[in-house]
Amino acid sequence: MGSQIRPLLAMSSYLLCFSFIVVNAVNEEKKGYSFEKGFVFINETSFIGKIEDDFVCATLDWWPTQKCDYGRCSWGHASLLNLDLKNNVLLNAVKAFSPLKIRLGGTLQDKVTYGTEDYHHPCTPFVRNTSRMFDFTKGCLPMHRAKIIFGLNALNGKSIQSGSAVGPWNHTNAESFIRYTVKKNYTIHGWELGNELSGKGIGASISADRYASDVSTLRHMIEDVYRGIKPKPLVISPGGFFDATWFKEFVTKAGKSVDVITHHIYNLGPGVDEHISKKILDPSYLDGEAKTFNSLKNILQSSGTSATAWVGEAGGAYNSGRHLVSDAFVNSFWYLDQLGMSATYDTRAYCRQTLVGGNYGLLNVSTFMPNPDYYSALLWHRLMGHRVLAARFSGTKKIRAYAHCAKQQKGITILLLNLGNSTVLAEVSLKFTKPPHDHVKFREEYHLTAKNQNLHSQVMLLNGNILRVNKDGAIPPLKPVHVDPSKPIVVTPLSVVFAHIPDVIIPACT
Ligand SMILES: *[C@@H]1O[C@H](CO)[C@@H](O)[C@H](O)[C@H]1NC(C)=O
Ligand SMILES: *[C@@H]1O[C@H](CO)[C@@H](O)[C@H](O)[C@H]1NC(C)=O
Ligand SMILES: *[C@@H]1O[C@H](CO)[C@@H](O)[C@H](O)[C@H]1NC(C)=O
Ligand SMILES: *[C@@H]1O[C@H](CO)[C@@H](O)[C@H](O)[C@H]1NC(C)=O
Ligand SMILES: *[C@@H]1O[C@H](CO)[C@@H](O)[C@H](O)[C@H]1NC(C)=O
Ligand SMILES: *[C@@H]1O[C@H](CO)[C@@H](O)[C@H](O)[C@H]1NC(C)=O
Repeated sequence: MGSQIRPLLAMSSYLLCFSFIVVNAVNEEKKGYSFEKGFVFINETSFIGKIEDDFVCATLDWWPTQKCDYGRCSWGHASLLNLDLKNNVLLNAVKAFSPLKIRLGGTLQDKVTYGTEDYHHPCTPFVRNTSRMFDFTKGCLPMHRAKIIFGLNALNGKSIQSGSAVGPWNHTNAESFIRYTVKKNYTIHGWELGNELSGKGIGASISADRYASDVSTLRHMIEDVYRGIKPKPLVISPGGFFDATWFKEFVTKAGKSVDVITHHIYNLGPGVDEHISKKILDPSYLDGEAKTFNSLKNILQSSGTSATAWVGEAGGAYNSGRHLVSDAFVNSFWYLDQLGMSATYDTRAYCRQTLVGGNYGLLNVSTFMPNPDYYSALLWHRLMGHRVLAARFSGTKKIRAYAHCAKQQKGITILLLNLGNSTVLAEVSLKFTKPPHDHVKFREEYHLTAKNQNLHSQVMLLNGNILRVNKDGAIPPLKPVHVDPSKPIVVTPLSVVFAHIPDVIIPACT
């Protein structure tokens, strides 16, 4: 479309006439299934947030095979130190994103010593309680088409006094490691300092004041090491749980030293809990996390910093998640809702714990076959564009609605999550649309459901077809169905729908 025509169309506000007569759009109408109607309202004049192109991020952790929770050892060979990076399915899964942000870190990162030249000790395998080595020479980094965020040990040089880590950060070993990666021409997208040491900390904590000084040390070191080298990596911190007072002080004192403020989310409680699915399907439970996103957004805005917010690690349920929940269809309601909600509060990237490892991996820990959330993430990545729109669903609370300008295509994409048992007919209420006689006459829909309607199934269906990699380990194409745009979007019980509407040209997206 010509560039002159576009604003014209946007101005001429075509009021779409909806027919409120519900035609038999759903064939599967059965006794016991109820239907509800509702409207998706979108603010068409302006967008409310912006996400990065590679908003979807996933983590790899250090946990060794011996890491067990509640009698289940769920990490297999998913540690940074033993992951099979040549596995075809794993490589294809990462490649499908081109690029996927990968954050390397986790609890053990603050106990890691880097096996660079300054470290004259034998290279021993990873054991939880002794000095660790990270043999960087085995070609494990960087992964093909991945943007690596590397978490540095922030406790080095500090002494722990009743839970508080005191004293300045000793950056000698980290600097030698960073210099080593530069010498090897490895591109590191960002260096993150510390893991879960903010606020009260997990295991140990560092005061906001001290942390700000340590981050400033890291910033100076990065400036020095990367002098004349491009691209310069981001300085990321603190990678811990949100605590408003601590974060406010940290953001203020760290000033320009930090590019990205990261926080972690495990809002579903411990993996041992038998009621995680109930929490996931409860709209008010899901809403609970909004206050954290909002509070962090306000802190960043009021401090005047140019730093942006990322969720640096989020796995839903902590202590490795829960098998047949975190790695099953039901988890996509939590995950996609988090992606949608965080984006509306101007979060720029969201790192899922984990890409592989624990019960919350996007990929199966032994076969690397995608779990349902992998496909949810991939659809999000392909369909949800940079600009986040204000979307609201008027109707049942069991529908969660998010909308973005479409990604690399015209129009908008709406994400609808149906946490309830009723089929919902969702009308999209829009003023700005292209003239009805103009070319595109369909809407593209992606309906995700669980196999046999079993929420705990690890098999997901896209438009009724099972998603699985083929015998060569290739990720399946994710193809939409075409739907008449004058019909409402049919959201069946306990399903997810991405709807790309190409002929909606709104000022917020142009
Ligand atoms: C849409 O967003 C703009 C800018 O934030 C605001 O002024 C306007 O009131 C919003 N419109 C509606 C219908 O909420
Ligand atoms: C743990 O570390 C201590 C001290 O370094 C060592 O004596 C002990 O053998 C280690 N335990 C295991 C299981 O490796
Ligand atoms: C910092 O750590 C290095 C080893 O990486 C050590 O040689 C040095 O003495 C330490 N510096 C201080 C001030 O403790
Ligand atoms: C890194 O890149 C530089 C400049 O392109 C090159 O001279 C050097 O050989 C490379 N080093 C390695 C280890 O690949
Ligand atoms: C991984 O896949 C294998 C083969 O399909 C399956 O037997 C196993 O239960 C899966 N593991 C997990 C943790 O889901
Ligand atoms: C759906 O209906 C079944 C059977 O009536 C009920 O057990 C279940 O709790 C309902 N699920 C939701 C999410 O409302």
